[in-house]
Amino acid sequence: MKIAVFCSGNGTNLQAIIDAQKKGDITAEIALVVSDELNAFALTRAKKANIKTIVVERDKFSSKKEFEQEILKNLKKEKIGLIVLAGYMRLLSGDFIKEYKNRILNIHPALLPSFKGAHGIKDALQYGSKLTGVTVHFVTEDMDAGPIILQRALTIKENDTERSLAEAIHKEEHKMYPQAIQLFVEGRLKVESGRVKVTKDL
Ligand code: GRF
Repeated sequence: MKIAVFCSGNGTNLQAIIDAQKKGDITAEIALVVSDELNAFALTRAKKANIKTIVVERDKFSSKKEFEQEILKNLKKEKIGLIVLAGYMRLLSGDFIKEYKNRILNIHPALLPSFKGAHGIKDALQYGSKLTGVTVHFVTEDMDAGPIILQRALTIKENDTERSLAEAIHKEEHKMYPQAIQLFVEGRLKVESGRVKVTKDL
């Protein structure tokens, strides 16, 4: 199976996925990295690992549809079977998601459905939550709302800062995302009535 990873920024999750693939913990090819940001450090990481990259910038297209068509064209060319969103800061349209129904994963730095959106770590801290965590889920049209694949909780300590909490969350993300990807690659994720069943047997 061929995987495309979508990134907009630093790409530490991309790095964890690359490393897991090199170790044999992900038995699929990372065939493409897609970025909407020309200067995303994720692109440097991909190039270093000899992974093909494309930059598709939203402002180069007159509509979201054309922008997404360009991405889809490249995914089809590469015969991509799974899309992994790793810090991709754009919402995909319903039409795009339909093309890859139940084949797009996202990772969110909070326990969904709590603290959706772009500031999940800061929001949990500011709210005074005692627990937060990481969620890997399938992407549906509603933001941060698709069927949950894996979820792990972390305690928020009294002296935690946004930085210390982000560090703990990222550490967990880097373990969980490769695990979730491998479950998908092994065909062990079944979506039934909006819930994910992780099957043991292939
Ligand atoms: C991660 O915290 C992820 O949960 C969120 O975006 C961040 C991406 O970080 N969706 P990185 O670019 O992988 O370092």
